[in-house]
Amino acid sequence: MADSIIQIEKLDKTYKGGHQALKNVDLEIKRGEIFALLGPNGAGKTTLIGIICGLVRPTSGTVIADGHDIAKDFRKARSAIGLVPQELATDMFTTVWATIEFSRGLFGKAPNKKHLEKVLRDLSLWDKKDNKIATLSGGMKRRVLIAKALAHEPTILFLDEPTAGVDVELRREMWEMVRRLRESGVTIILTTHYIEEAEEMADRIGVINKGEIILVEDKHDLMRKLGQTQVTIVLKEPLTSLPHQLLTWPVTLSEDGTTLHLALKGESDDTEADATGLIKALAALNIDFKSVDMSRSSLEDIFVSLVAGDNQ
Ligand SMILES: Nc1ncnc2c1ncn2[C@@H]1O[C@H](COP(=O)(O)OP(=O)(O)OP(=O)(O)O)[C@@H](O)[C@H]1O
Ligand SMILES: [Mg+2]
Repeated sequence: MADSIIQIEKLDKTYKGGHQALKNVDLEIKRGEIFALLGPNGAGKTTLIGIICGLVRPTSGTVIADGHDIAKDFRKARSAIGLVPQELATDMFTTVWATIEFSRGLFGKAPNKKHLEKVLRDLSLWDKKDNKIATLSGGMKRRVLIAKALAHEPTILFLDEPTAGVDVELRREMWEMVRRLRESGVTIILTTHYIEEAEEMADRIGVINKGEIILVEDKHDLMRKLGQTQVTIVLKEPLTSLPHQLLTWPVTLSEDGTTLHLALKGESDDTEADATGLIKALAALNIDFKSVDMSRSSLEDIFVSLVAGDNQ
């Protein structure tokens, strides 16, 4: 398909020792999107990324990356890809500059100091370019890995847990950087345990559990389909029963008669009108209230319910 940049078909991986880490995975990544892959520990995220990047050999199945089959045309496929691995593994005793310069060379790209400088500046690493990596903080090391992944100008960037152990401020900076990269045309696939990160960043979300992709959805569609808004209205005077005029809404009355609960499906935009309607109906019935509270279920709630019960 013209608008997809990665096509994965019927991918299986059984590690030596018999553990099946991926089961019949089909997945397409669209050109230019930010795709978040979510799943509990051991779900198969790093295995999937490892196969696409040629670090792990699949048991069966095919992967096409930027038009190149990773099995038949590995070098071309790989040079389209930048990988920021989950584990911090790089030569600690070389400088930041030498590390990224070397990485670019590995992919057979002609030297380009301008590009490398831009990458380092974008990641606020320019003033560290002559420092040995061992002397940098954990967050800076992580940014060096990103710089290294971008040195050869890939069109696809994998970020495996990019912000694990990164402070809130730096995490926000990295999100900004990822957005800028996407604007420059790079397709981004990230895994994360911070659901907030996926909610903030992703265009589409895939959920993997025990080696199986159990869902792939546009983020907003997902929240609309599975999200809920809870509206809690605390009344001034308790009611003995629920007035029949209110039964058009999915509303319940607490046992003591003091609180109305309204549970609405979908995103807040769609449900605000419902909540406002209910409040108007209360006013028309001269029912006074002390407070109204609205809370929207997060992607986290949705995610937990999707993989619930399946993991101990
Ligand atoms: N080299 C290996 N040999 C054998 N089993 C492996 C190997 N690498 C991973 N596994 C197993 O495959 C499964 C998937 O691991 P993987 O690292 O892909 O999970 P993950 O989703 O990235 O988890 P996490 O969120 O903890 O990073 C796990 O059960 C893991 O123990
Ligand atoms: Mg992993």
